[in-house]
Amino acid sequence: MNAIEFEDVKKSYGSGEAVRGISMAVGEGSLVALMGASGSGKTTMLKMVNRLVAPTSGKILFFGEDTASMDVIALRKRIGYVLQSAALFPHMTAAGNISTIPDILGWDKARTKLRVKELLSLMGLDPDKFAGRYPSQLSGGEQQRVGIARAMAGEPSVLLMDEPFGALDVITRSRLQDDLLSIHRRSGTTILFVTHDIDEAFRMGNKVAVMNRGVLAQYGTPREIVENPKDGYVRQLLNFLSVEALKRAGEPK
Ligand SMILES: Nc1ncnc2c1ncn2[C@@H]1O[C@H](COP(=O)(O)OP(=O)(O)OP(=O)(O)O)[C@@H](O)[C@H]1O
Ligand SMILES: [Mg+2]
Repeated sequence: MNAIEFEDVKKSYGSGEAVRGISMAVGEGSLVALMGASGSGKTTMLKMVNRLVAPTSGKILFFGEDTASMDVIALRKRIGYVLQSAALFPHMTAAGNISTIPDILGWDKARTKLRVKELLSLMGLDPDKFAGRYPSQLSGGEQQRVGIARAMAGEPSVLLMDEPFGALDVITRSRLQDDLLSIHRRSGTTILFVTHDIDEAFRMGNKVAVMNRGVLAQYGTPREIVENPKDGYVRQLLNFLSVEALKRAGEPK
């Protein structure tokens, strides 16, 4: 079963074409890294999945169902979304932000409270210290981690993550990458993960989708891409892959 299928999807903003006919499938339970340079259309791809942006043409299927004809609220309840900037609700504490979806889903207070604690700890934020803080009292990286916890809180079947670790130092980033991989393995959540960092894409993705100016240059496992880059753009990108990441790409995930 595919969690998400893009079928010849195009998106124009006025005269500019951001996505120029992309078809790709994200298998249920997989972690797909969507990578490409700034402006290549990555955020647009994510936003079309939860219908924050409507495609100009083409179709997007969510577990086989055309998203265009789904109830948008029902669709979004099943999708966690980590925005490129944390975009927390400023008038709510960290705990309040993380509880948003569980509250909408009607979880009882005790279950939500437990989940908030669990997620804050997972993000390396001591619940006793951070649960009651407002976004303005958190660093950029802490806000980003609360944003990730908020997206995961309702146990969504699909998680859309837009450069979730962009604002973090290398050590925190590397730890959260490992944590996300283990959460992914344990939960079976399907993850579509945007990054412009090739090492991160190859480290995280079961499959990597390389976007170049609105076009899908290549879609495959890290190993397939390393062994058989499809065009000059992908070959050029691979020059920037670290030796460590290159080695890991050859190993099974
Ligand atoms: N609301 C909008 N109105 C007009 N143009 C837009 C809009 N949103 C995005 N674009 C344009 O569409 C193209 C793709 O944008 P998008 O945000 O999808 O890129 P991206 O790959 O996420 O880039 P980045 O890595 O910088 O976040 C860009 O040229 C951008 O200027
Ligand atoms: Mg973006």
